[in-house]
Amino acid sequence: MLNIEELSRRFREELAAAQETEELEKVRIAYLGKKGSVTELLKGLKNLNGDEKREAGQRINTFKQEVQAFIQKRSAELEAARQEARLKNDPRYDISMPVDLGQGTLHPITLVQRELEEIFKSMGFTIEDYKEIVTEYECFEAVNIPKYHPARDMQDTYYLENGQVLKTHTSAAQNAILRKYGANTRAIFPGRCFRNEALDASHENTFFQMEGIMVGEDISISNLIYFMKTMLSEVFGKPITVRLRPGFFPFVEPGFELDIQCHVCGGTGCPTCKQSGWIELCPCGMIHPNVLEMAGIDSEKYSGFAFGLGLTRLAMMKYGIKDIRMLNSGSLKALEQFKVR
Ligand code: PHE
Repeated sequence: MLNIEELSRRFREELAAAQETEELEKVRIAYLGKKGSVTELLKGLKNLNGDEKREAGQRINTFKQEVQAFIQKRSAELEAARQEARLKNDPRYDISMPVDLGQGTLHPITLVQRELEEIFKSMGFTIEDYKEIVTEYECFEAVNIPKYHPARDMQDTYYLENGQVLKTHTSAAQNAILRKYGANTRAIFPGRCFRNEALDASHENTFFQMEGIMVGEDISISNLIYFMKTMLSEVFGKPITVRLRPGFFPFVEPGFELDIQCHVCGGTGCPTCKQSGWIELCPCGMIHPNVLEMAGIDSEKYSGFAFGLGLTRLAMMKYGIKDIRMLNSGSLKALEQFKVR
């Protein structure tokens, strides 16, 4: 039988000589391939017996593992060298740049979104993703805003040539999600929304909302208030007092504006709440029977609530951000203040 030490020595020489991936592959085949030396050695085992066979088998296997490990290592080295050479010769890369640019930070909206997702997940809600480009039907008709309804004026948006729109609110996903879960829906769906806005410190053409819906038997306004209070108290880290005022949205009936007692002054009046003691936070209401029916849910038997939380607004309130335009600015100086907690 061939001397393994001798074979091992030869192998290392050949390995060191392999300067290209193709050469390395040749070495691999010569040792581990179907007719390779290691394979031949293993085949030779059948001519041996007993202890001799076991001992030789062990030695060959150890050698085989060694060969595999070395080939892998060499392959990684060659790949690294290849990359380095490529970077060196490519004027687009500056290899003198310092590598340690520090850890990145999460965007404040991502932070608030993740926090809310955790809270709602713990209350049994599913988290849904939805498209940013939707049909007009999903954005409007399916949420009880027929063509030419004046409510469309407030949500002017970008129309694509094929008639689809950039969604103006996360409510555009209501129909699909209600269809998915039917009379047993408990879902939140964060998303990027778009509107044709004149930009200023509190208006952007691109912003984030988080919608929530819950449908079942006997779901009432009390459920809505409970979930909103629990969620907001978690977000602000203290008990939050809420109140409902009537508000009109075609897809809820009754519809409300949910206000929170000002978290800055506690309700006595300050510049943040414009001296009123309350801050308007979140439109909501009981899902309109038409919306349930359009999703194939029996509105006689089931009811539900919906809310449309302004994620962007909430992030601005939570972090005291004064100008909405900062959020989409890409300005690291502003954004990197928000470290992961
Ligand atoms: N979709 C509404 C908007 O963007 C908000 C909303 C959602 C209101 C859910 C009520 C219920 O203006």
